[in-house]
Amino acid sequence: MKIAIASDHAGFDYKEKIISLIKDTGNNPVDFGTNTIDSCDYPDYAYPAAEAVANHIADFGIIICGTGIGMSIVANKVHGVRAANCITPEMARLARQHNNANVLTLGARLISIELAKEIITIFLNTEFEGGRHINRVNKIHDITGC
Ligand code: RB5
Repeated sequence: MKIAIASDHAGFDYKEKIISLIKDTGNNPVDFGTNTIDSCDYPDYAYPAAEAVANHIADFGIIICGTGIGMSIVANKVHGVRAANCITPEMARLARQHNNANVLTLGARLISIELAKEIITIFLNTEFEGGRHINRVNKIHDITGC
């Protein structure tokens, strides 16, 4: 799978480690930056990574900032994106099963890299359940136009 990945300065260290994890698991990371620990603005990196998912250039996105919150706010403004900020493996599982989330956002200042990797593994390996969730997920886009 192709995974769009991005971070700001707060998530840079995790991004580099997550890129290695993605490669080690036979997937293909597409890196949208940032490329240094210099202070920067998370929308500049969240938006193009989320667009890559919306345009089907990538299958999923993983975007990291200090809390994951700024990244999720930006990504959820891209039409077709359903971004979930997860701090537990259970949240990652349910974000896929119930919400068909296609972007995972992570807070590097909130969770350890080990936990982040666990969350990613669950996120990338859990299928959408469909069924009663299909209408609800469709309504996210129909009602909001986003
Ligand atoms: C950067 O200091 C921090 O505000 C950013 O990484 C993120 O947590 C915003 O949501």
